[in-house]
Amino acid sequence: GGVTAKDELGNDVSVAKFLENRNAGDRNLVQGLKGDPTYIVVDSKEAIKDYGINAICTHLGCVVPWNVAENKFKCPCHGSQYDETGKVVRGPAPLSLALAHTSVNDDKIVLTP
Ligand code: FES
Repeated sequence: GGVTAKDELGNDVSVAKFLENRNAGDRNLVQGLKGDPTYIVVDSKEAIKDYGINAICTHLGCVVPWNVAENKFKCPCHGSQYDETGKVVRGPAPLSLALAHTSVNDDKIVLTP
């Protein structure tokens, strides 16, 4: 089954709230499946794309921040890098970041495996 994306306080994240936080300079992170930090991806018109990117490094599990200047995810622990779709472009990470299917239901962001 799916889960509603949550904020840091455990509240459901609506689309409006997500875009508000995003535009306030916060990043696109929510808590998704299993509570993992997950990046919600939007297109150029601020429509939510149908996938989210699990921010847990596939090497040893550090949270991987998005690096705006370099347009990639860079793991602070051992230097793995992922492109904007979560594909691994530099090890030691063995695999790309996991994706979650994203949809909107009743103005809430819902993630499914
Ligand atoms: Fe990310 Fe090791 S945990 S590179």
